[in-house]
Amino acid sequence: MNKSPIILGIETSCDETAVSIIQDNESGIPKILSNIVSSQFDIHKEFGGVVPELAARSHVEKINLIAKKALDESGITLDKVSAIAATSGPGLIICLSVGLNFAKSLSSSLKVPFIGVNHLEGHALSPKLHTNISYPYLLLLISGGHSQFLSVNGLGSYTRLGTTIDDALGEAFDKTAKLLGIEFPGGPKLEKFAEKGDPNKFKLPKPIINKGGCNLSFAGLKTAILRLTKTIKTDQEKYDLAASFQKTIEEILYIKSKTAFDEFSKTNSIKDKTFVVAGGVAANKGIRKKLIEVSDENNFLSIFPDIKLCGDNAAMIALVGLEKYKIKKFDNIDLSASPRLALDKNAKFLKGSGLIY
Ligand SMILES: Nc1ncnc2c1ncn2[C@@H]1O[C@H](COP(=O)(O)OP(=O)(O)OP(=O)(O)O)[C@@H](O)[C@H]1O
Ligand SMILES: [Mg+2]
Repeated sequence: MNKSPIILGIETSCDETAVSIIQDNESGIPKILSNIVSSQFDIHKEFGGVVPELAARSHVEKINLIAKKALDESGITLDKVSAIAATSGPGLIICLSVGLNFAKSLSSSLKVPFIGVNHLEGHALSPKLHTNISYPYLLLLISGGHSQFLSVNGLGSYTRLGTTIDDALGEAFDKTAKLLGIEFPGGPKLEKFAEKGDPNKFKLPKPIINKGGCNLSFAGLKTAILRLTKTIKTDQEKYDLAASFQKTIEEILYIKSKTAFDEFSKTNSIKDKTFVVAGGVAANKGIRKKLIEVSDENNFLSIFPDIKLCGDNAAMIALVGLEKYKIKKFDNIDLSASPRLALDKNAKFLKGSGLIY
């Protein structure tokens, strides 16, 4: 086995075509040799959401080009690559299949291992691309499709402590943004709107805030915002509503993180406790500030991925590929795409369950 393995990672689970090449390093933090992400915002924005057929077609058109660009930028040739890793789920099946098939063909022709990666594990481990973190740690995954607190016990070993019972947080940001007339995906622009508004102007609900442990719920917020958007007229009122939404989310995450700290501490008696916040919404500066505050108050060390590693990228997929390569956890070429793939396979499906406790 190569002493400093080089992994080529591929991500095509939704609307980003991404390829990255990383190399293992003695420091424990791999070197990112290239990390190319091509987003499809312009293709989907007129539809207000991702159109699966258009997304898959764009992946097919671009994957070769993006892989070539990643290779050129990394300065390495294909014969130096130790393994090919690609997202196998969760995501849109026709999009996942493009990256998976590309990865399988490449690994067969190069005669190197093929490794399927859970996209969510990519997010979960993403800060390890720049920080040494030891297991176990508490994770808050806040992305476009997921919102969960998990105990990360090791590679492939997760215990879910809490999850959203309805919308994911990224989804709540995007839906609120849409109601305020911001084009898809609205999360990042909603944050900019919020900076210009009065966070105390509107009082919004905090669903299941005092019950349900560290489970989360955001659907009620969207309904309240829908009602309010019918009454507001000026741009300033829009900024005020965005700011009130941002503040409410920060407060919900503050309170629920405290509950998650307690849950995590019940089963993990380690002295130095780490709280990793990952996924697209972890790029939100106000949320970062609030979660640093709650971590400091409760003696957890908070760690966030670099902003450019919060959203979907292939460096995080290559990273999981590298960890699996080191323990020779390879996949067969018949591995199929899994549109639903959980981190904690034993956790109950709670979506739509209403109030659970
Ligand atoms: N600064 C920000 N503030 C709030 N939300 C943000 C910000 N930046 C990105 N987002 C949101 O993050 C989400 C995208 O994150 P990500 O790419 O991790 O999700 P995904 O891959 O679509 O879903 P998943 O990873 O759950 O399958 C979008 O909903 C987007 O609006
Ligand atoms: Mg994602």
